[in-house]
Amino acid sequence: MTKEKPILVISSGAGISAESGIKTFRDADGLWENYPVMQVASADGFRANPALVHQFYNERRKQLIHAQPNDAHRILVELEKDYDVYVITQNVDDLHERAGSSKVLHLHGELMKIRSVSDPDYIESLDIEHLETSPETRGRRGDLMRPHIVFFQEPVPMIEEAARIVSMADIFVVIGTSLVVYPAAGLLQCVRPGVPIYYIDPNPASTAGVSDVTVIRKTASQGLRELKDILEKGK
Ligand code: OAD
Repeated sequence: MTKEKPILVISSGAGISAESGIKTFRDADGLWENYPVMQVASADGFRANPALVHQFYNERRKQLIHAQPNDAHRILVELEKDYDVYVITQNVDDLHERAGSSKVLHLHGELMKIRSVSDPDYIESLDIEHLETSPETRGRRGDLMRPHIVFFQEPVPMIEEAARIVSMADIFVVIGTSLVVYPAAGLLQCVRPGVPIYYIDPNPASTAGVSDVTVIRKTASQGLRELKDILEKGK
């Protein structure tokens, strides 16, 4: 009989992609790649100027296809040898998938996908040759399409599934997030009592009130190397 692997749940934010050259949000004074976040990542912003929002995500896609997964993404793949690893990410990039992680849930949508304006369940993947969209873009079914991004002021459809996964965790690891955006930040509350929590971030948010947290004040790749050693020793 094979022994079941412990369940390792990762909650990643923008910091895990920083070493791949993708800027984080709050390290730039509320600007996201020089745009005010609420202009390009909110439902109000999209209503006010859909052309600007499409153009913004067109630029992000062009940047993403030139970015590569970094050691942090790769270490999470290596951990699959010994753990049943679930990645829950707030990131809209596809670097976890390109590194080879097998279970990735995107809480805030995916840059390389678009979805119907009128039917949120109708989603299409973009073809690498046609990454530009505009307010006139129609999908294969004829629907007007928008970036597959969960804007501020919109519900987060994947949060229930994410909470279910976190509640199964034997070990929970938070990497590179400022823990300010809810409901994602609230996933910490879904961890079962007594389950060890690690938080890897060079500039971590306060974790006051959360028990069993070990803060590793390092970049994602350095911190994950350290965590791998800790887990190895604890076996
Ligand atoms: P933030 O930009 O708020 O936080 C990034 C975190 O990464 C900070 O805590 C940094 O200290 C940390 N960091 C920076 N460099 C790092 C490195 N090399 N290694 C590890 N950590 C590093 O990003 P998020 O918390 O992910 O939402 O932001 C949450 C959401 O707000 C995003 O998903 C996005 C944004 O508005 C949407 O787009 C809907």
